[in-house]
Amino acid sequence: MNRATRTIGTVSLILGTLTLVLAAHVAATDGASLYKAKSCHTCHGENGSHPIAPGYPVIAGQNAKYLLRQMIDIRDGSRTNGLSSTMKAVVASVTDQEFSVIAEWLTEKY
Ligand code: HEC
Repeated sequence: MNRATRTIGTVSLILGTLTLVLAAHVAATDGASLYKAKSCHTCHGENGSHPIAPGYPVIAGQNAKYLLRQMIDIRDGSRTNGLSSTMKAVVASVTDQEFSVIAEWLTEKY
C-alpha cells in the first residue's frame, strides 16, 4: 500500500466516522426518533395515542409542560402513584433535554 492509498483510506475512515456521529446526533434531536429509541412506544403505543393496556395513559396531544413535568417526576421518583414504577426503571437514563424534545413532539400528536 503506498502513501497516497493509505491517506485516502484514512480520510474515508474519518468521513465514515463523522457520518455515523452526525446520524446519531440527528436521531437524538428528533422527537419521533427519540420516542422510539427510548422505548416509549412499547407502552404508550404509536405517537403516544394507543397505549398497550387500559391503565397506561394516552400522552399524545397533552400540554407539553405538563408532559415534561410528569416524565421528570416519574424518572426521579417524585411521582409514585398508580403504575408509575412500571415506567420509572425504563426511563432512568433519559435526560431532561431528551424528555423536553419528546414532550414538544407529543403535544402536536393526536
Ligand atoms: C414500561 C412501560 C412504559 C414505558 C416504556 C414508558 N412509559 Fe410512560 N407511563 C407508563 C405508565 C404505566 C404510566 C402511568 C403511571 C401512573 O399510573 O400514574 C406512564 C405515564 C407517563 C406520563 C404521564 C401521563 C399523565 O397523563 O400524567 C408521561 C408523560 C409518560 N409516561 C411519558 C413517557 C415517555 C416520554 C416515555 C419514553 C421516554 C415513557 N413514558 C415510557 C408506562 C411506560
